[in-house]
Amino acid sequence: MPNPVMQPGDFVHILWANRERTALFRLQPAGVYHSQYGIIRHDDLIGQPWGFQGQTHRGEVFYALPPSLEDLLRRTPRRTQILFPKDIGFLLLKMSIGPGTQVIEAGTGSGALTTALAFYVGDQGRVFSYERRPEMQALARKNLEALGLAHRVTFHLHDIAQGFRERDVDALFLDVPTPEAYIPQARAALRPGGFFGALVPTTNQVTRLLEALDQHGFAMVEVCELLLRYYKPVPERLRPTDRMVAHTGYLIFARPVQTGAERTKTAQTRAPHAPD
Ligand SMILES: C[S@@+](CC[C@H](N)C(=O)[O-])C[C@H]1O[C@@H](n2cnc3c(N)ncnc32)[C@H](O)[C@@H]1O
Repeated sequence: MPNPVMQPGDFVHILWANRERTALFRLQPAGVYHSQYGIIRHDDLIGQPWGFQGQTHRGEVFYALPPSLEDLLRRTPRRTQILFPKDIGFLLLKMSIGPGTQVIEAGTGSGALTTALAFYVGDQGRVFSYERRPEMQALARKNLEALGLAHRVTFHLHDIAQGFRERDVDALFLDVPTPEAYIPQARAALRPGGFFGALVPTTNQVTRLLEALDQHGFAMVEVCELLLRYYKPVPERLRPTDRMVAHTGYLIFARPVQTGAERTKTAQTRAPHAPD
């Protein structure tokens, strides 16, 4: 939880009282935030309690709130498609990411997933993040540094076709176009019984990934997609918002199990609650 009052360095989420839009910036002494609704002076917020109601120089009313991790992720400065918070939230649970977890991800991209992983593994855990494009790694590093989370991440500039440098990690997530090409490498890096996950946007990619998982000793295979629909929070005419993000990607989860004679076909070892 943040301090009870706003301090320099804090991110602040501005909720306009009479608008549907919000704004997010970082407080700095003598800083000024220019919006279409008027100016907010940072010094007018520093030292005030969270939830503070203020006005711009044009009299527009706003509230100052601490941003959630989701607020921060949605505003990740990006040059790639980033994972959506709805998918990130679920994969964190499915892959049991928490304090102390050692987790690999590829590719780093703009660092949205890296941010969430670094937030949840805590100072006892570690995120090993692989990216082959230097400009993407630089952007992600900058994004993580801005949030004070970069010290929990090892950034590798490395094509994962050449394998991962770590062994026996707890979890490994792939957000790359051809995850099926890196399953032997993923398996070599994961501890037995660890958690594998991936996101791909098309069913063709899912099919290829399922075949690769089957060939390399993964069980408890699950495929799902998450649909998130927001509602207009108006008591007298409660209904869904006009627009929704209809598709982000398919999530695939699996667990590495023993290979060889003991290998069990994934088709026979679906997760118990996965419908036929
Ligand atoms: C969709 S972006 C990842 C977005 C990221 N998960 C996020 O939430 O911001 C995919 C990234 O994977 C990287 N990539 C693709 N193939 C790779 C490989 N073989 N090794 C390392 N990085 C790779 C790309 O350069 C790109 O930056």
